[in-house]
Amino acid sequence: MAERPAPTSARPPWATIVVVIAAVLLAAFAAWYMRPGAAGGGGELGGAFSLTDQDGKAVTNDTYKGKWRLVYFGYAFCPDVCPTELQTVAEAVEALGADGAQLLPMFITVDPARDTVARLKDYVGLFHPRMVGLTGTEAQVIQAARAYRVYYAKQPSADPDGYLMDHSSFTYLMKPDGTLSTVFPAQTDPDAMAAAIRQALAGK
Ligand code: NI
Repeated sequence: MAERPAPTSARPPWATIVVVIAAVLLAAFAAWYMRPGAAGGGGELGGAFSLTDQDGKAVTNDTYKGKWRLVYFGYAFCPDVCPTELQTVAEAVEALGADGAQLLPMFITVDPARDTVARLKDYVGLFHPRMVGLTGTEAQVIQAARAYRVYYAKQPSADPDGYLMDHSSFTYLMKPDGTLSTVFPAQTDPDAMAAAIRQALAGK
């Protein structure tokens, strides 16, 4: 069997420097986000939710116990931010190679009125074959968003089916026990995200 070439072998030196700088900035952001006493701080983020997955199966946060998860909240009709961030999540999982297999990419909708089970199944499949898509009743989605301190609100629109949603845009790396490991801001570089996740998986 041919060995996979090391993913960094073809990378020019400046690219490595950019990733290292991005990783340092990410670590600083995570430390700030999770500082003691912060609104979203400490290991409290995460917690109980009851939702339905993209196959129509009822799930809770305990369903995924024992697995690392990379969680993003958004909505399938989102024109730009959500697709960009989900692409980053998918690229980070792939950049981790074999280590990525122990990581479950997860998309939780903030727009359950339009994001049905069937729609989410199509949507998450666009990004990654293992991506989980979760929806539920409005009350269930509110509960999940509260657990992750996610802000969202429907924008006023004349078109009842064409509205946009405002929403916070963080990607949460959750530990196998369901507590927060780290958080990534929007526009994180996929390689920097992968590097930070690799460190977390290694227990560093
Ligand atoms: Ni979005």
